[in-house]
Amino acid sequence: MGLMDQYQCPRGRQGRSVAKRMNREHEALTIWGLTHVKIMSDDVILDVGCGGGKTINTLAKLAPAGKVFGIDHSVDMVDYSNKMNKKLIEKNRVQIIEGTVEKMSFPNDYFNLVTACETYYFWSSFSDALKEIKRVLKPCGRLLLVNEMVQDTVYEVENAKLIEETHVCLIPLKEIQNVMQSVGFVGVKIFTKDQSPWNAIIAQKPS
Ligand SMILES: C[S@@+](CC[C@H](N)C(=O)[O-])C[C@H]1O[C@@H](n2cnc3c(N)ncnc32)[C@H](O)[C@@H]1O
Repeated sequence: MGLMDQYQCPRGRQGRSVAKRMNREHEALTIWGLTHVKIMSDDVILDVGCGGGKTINTLAKLAPAGKVFGIDHSVDMVDYSNKMNKKLIEKNRVQIIEGTVEKMSFPNDYFNLVTACETYYFWSSFSDALKEIKRVLKPCGRLLLVNEMVQDTVYEVENAKLIEETHVCLIPLKEIQNVMQSVGFVGVKIFTKDQSPWNAIIAQKPS
C-alpha cells in the first residue's frame, strides 16, 4: 500500500505516521469547521471517521459535561485514537469503536451532534451513510461535515493528481446539499472559507 492510499483506511506503521500527520494538519480546518455549530457543555457527540482522534479530544473540551464517541473502520486508527484520548477514556468521557459509518451499532436518537472531518470522500455510499447518521441523531440533532477538498472546476483541475492518488470521491457542494435533503435532513447550510477550498456543511434532523 502506498502512502497516499493510507488516507482511506490508515493501517500499520505507515498508517500511524499518517494519523500523526492528520492530527496536526487537520486541526486548523477542524477548529474552523466547529465554529459553525453551537456545542452545549453536556452534548453527546459522535465523530465518524475519527482517524488519529484529535477531533475527539477537541470535542471533549468543548463539551466538558458531555460524552464524545468516535468510530473508524480502521482498527489501527481506533488503537491510535484510544492512546491519544487515554485520560478521557479512563474518565468515561470518550469511547471509540471500530465500525463503518454506513452501519453503526449505536441506538436510534442518541447523539446531539455528529461530526465528519475529511472522511465523506471514502464512504462506500454517501446516501446510506447519511441515512445512518440521521438514524443515530436525536430529533433536532445536527450533522457537520468539514472538508479541505471541494469539487469545483478550479480545485478539481489544479489538484487532479492529488485527487487521483488519494482515491477521494468528491461530490459538488450543491449535490451534497441535495442528497442531505433527499434523505430527510433540513436546514442545510454550506459555509466556505475565502480564498480556500475549505468547506463546512451543516444539516439538522427534523424535530
Ligand atoms: C483522511 S482520514 C481523516 C481522519 C480525521 N477525521 C481527521 O480529520 O484527521 C479519513 C478517515 O476516515 C476513515 N473512514 C473512511 N471511510 C470510512 C467508513 N466508511 N466508515 C468509518 N470510517 C471511515 C478512515 O479510516 C480514516 O481514518
